Amino acid sequence: VWTPANIAEQLVGGVRDRIGAGRAICGLSGGVDSAVAAALVQRAIGDRLTCVFVDHGLLRQGEREQVQQDFVAATGAKLVTVDAVQTFVTELAGVSDPEEKRKIIGREFIRSFESAVADLADGGVDFLVQGTLYPDVVESGGGTGTANIKSHHNVGGLPDDLEFQLVEPLRLLFKDEVRAVGRELGLPEEIVGRQPFPGPGLAIRIVGEVTPDRLATLRRADAIAREELTAAGLDQQIWQCPVVLLADVRSVGVQGDGRTYGHPIVLRPVSSEDAMTADWSRLPYDVLERISTRITNEVAEVNRVVLDVTSKPPGTIEWE
Ligand code: XMP
Repeated sequence: VWTPANIAEQLVGGVRDRIGAGRAICGLSGGVDSAVAAALVQRAIGDRLTCVFVDHGLLRQGEREQVQQDFVAATGAKLVTVDAVQTFVTELAGVSDPEEKRKIIGREFIRSFESAVADLADGGVDFLVQGTLYPDVVESGGGTGTANIKSHHNVGGLPDDLEFQLVEPLRLLFKDEVRAVGRELGLPEEIVGRQPFPGPGLAIRIVGEVTPDRLATLRRADAIAREELTAAGLDQQIWQCPVVLLADVRSVGVQGDGRTYGHPIVLRPVSSEDAMTADWSRLPYDVLERISTRITNEVAEVNRVVLDVTSKPPGTIEWE
């Protein structure tokens, strides 16, 4: 019988057999898949698993804490955090092209990950855990795949000379099954119920150059939108809602007793089954109004909030 409990038990047993007395590492992205994969492997081999989380400074408000506190509290996993904020900011300076941003982020992510692995005091890592799901396996042609960091699968992979054996405990599961297994393993709803978030993070939601100030602006606007969507009980109804800063666009506004010349924020709420196609979500006007009022009141650099009403195709979900 398919129950989350016996699936989890079976997967844990499989991982235990596979890894034996070996050691493993797992890159955590903050997303659901890598968190559940890591929790399973932790259950199987305890602290012979080391989780690595790269903070590239392109995360949303509270994400680093979520991984460091909630994930660790729920699993007891050994976690190494690489603080790479300064490196990413420096490497991204002056870059506006979306593909160029992805390339830089992919490259720097791998460097940070490698340096964390090289630093592991207990050395001798044989296995790399990935949160590959069944749809990923199908999409990549059913092969065993290369050693990619799942959340960054389309921004770059690990180099060939990193010779780990792959452990992919979720390769036969769909997203909703992964969530059920995650709940079974005691992961909190903030982690298992999370909406998709791209590996390159907020960098591809700033149209224009990525700077620390712009990241701070977008992070505040995004936190407000998420808070209001959650408060309105809409998290389950929408697939995800990118919040985008048009950093190179300004428009005139009036606020308090004066003229403003600020940036627009775009709300991109979508409904979707698999992100291959999507429709724009018909959010209630009162929720949109609250988000708009709060963002323009609370985020100084933003004086206009606009709604993206484009389906995919022709639009993509993300703006970059
Ligand atoms: P698009 O924008 O292509 O997005 O309609 C489809 C889904 O993929 C996510 N996305 C990414 N995820 N790295 C990722 O890990 C990326 O470079 C990337 N680009 C888009 C997006 O959030 C949506 O869920």
